[in-house]
Amino acid sequence: MDAATLELRNVSKQYPGAAAPAIADLSLEVEAGEICVLVGPSGCGKTTAMRLINRMIELTGGEILLDGTSVHSRKPSELRRDIGYAIQQIGLFPHQTIAQNIATVPKLLGWDKARCTNRVEELMELIGLPQEMAERFPAQLSGGQRQRVGVARALAADPPLMLMDEPFGAVDPINRERLQNEFLRLQAQVRKTIVFVTHDIDEAIKMGDRIAVLKEGGVLAQFATPAELLMAPADDFVEDFVGADRALKRLALERVRDIELWPARMVQVGDPNVKARELAAQSPTGHVLLVDEGSRPLAWLNERDLSFDKVGPHKGRVASVEVDDLLRDALSDLLQDQVLYGVAVDAEGRVAGILSVEIIAQFLGDQGPGHIEEAAAAADRIA
Ligand SMILES: Nc1ncnc2c1ncn2[C@@H]1O[C@H](COP(=O)(O)OP(=O)(O)OP(=O)(O)O)[C@@H](O)[C@H]1O
Ligand SMILES: [Mg+2]
Repeated sequence: MDAATLELRNVSKQYPGAAAPAIADLSLEVEAGEICVLVGPSGCGKTTAMRLINRMIELTGGEILLDGTSVHSRKPSELRRDIGYAIQQIGLFPHQTIAQNIATVPKLLGWDKARCTNRVEELMELIGLPQEMAERFPAQLSGGQRQRVGVARALAADPPLMLMDEPFGAVDPINRERLQNEFLRLQAQVRKTIVFVTHDIDEAIKMGDRIAVLKEGGVLAQFATPAELLMAPADDFVEDFVGADRALKRLALERVRDIELWPARMVQVGDPNVKARELAAQSPTGHVLLVDEGSRPLAWLNERDLSFDKVGPHKGRVASVEVDDLLRDALSDLLQDQVLYGVAVDAEGRVAGILSVEIIAQFLGDQGPGHIEEAAAAADRIA
């Protein structure tokens, strides 16, 4: 089934007897196929928002539209078949096997046995669990494996919308990272619309196409892409929430190929030195880069190396980074090599441009003054 759009319009929820609304007036739009992360402190209304979407609880005011249709115009039981729900603390049925757990919604939908079995096999494969585990009970799996089963169960009927409430909350950091990566890979294949709750800002930045930062009462402090959030937090609350090391976090979001590199001034053995000196003069580093016939870097050449008629053979150490590297890792490599710039190469080792600490500082500087300090602080933290 295709992904659905989701829209919350002036949504409010007051629990009976509560002094203040859990959600006062929340509006946001999620595009089809996007992961929208809800993030915010405990009690700010994240789980409430999720349960309003699939009508486990009812709205006090406002509207929720799934693919343009109000969820209120639909029967809750029927609505929930269009919405996969993976909840905080997993929530598998302990007395049912993994296969039975995964097939919960397909069975409700009246799929025949063969179709359910096929789907279970397919999903076990998708979440990377061996088929033989299908006959086990939840207690016979590790916490991380159970989480994956929870995701599989939510995906089982191929719903256009998935709600995931801290799906990886109960997992240790290493397995959590593995699950996050697997999940992103999975999402690249299935392209669901996903509302993903976490109170971990790093998880939000990693998983979200967009992030909704909520304050108490479900107040939307900011709704933005991870990069925007890190670049321009809307207020002190968001800035605090995002954390002091937001420069570093931004560097973990972008890759070397995403930023404008300095052009490399390249020469080959046999080129006239006049030309090489001209190029060196144009270069921001004052050097030219000697490359082989395949445009692979061999050495940096300075004035002294260019005193003869023609460029001769040289062999030096050239610090290099890959265009697919995260900026954070590339910066870390430069700092470890104790150089201010390095050659960015593609997967074949060909020169793509020059990456420098200065470029990275400039990149961070797009967010306003103080960037150099931030880059330096980020560098310190990495080094
Ligand atoms: N059934 C309920 N009856 C009354 N109040 C409730 C109920 N469920 C939640 N609340 C209150 O509504 C507010 C929002 O709760 P919610 O569970 O949505 O928070 P949350 O953002 O998911 O928090 P956490 O990160 O701790 O899971 C809290 O103040 C909570 O105490
Ligand atoms: Mg919650």
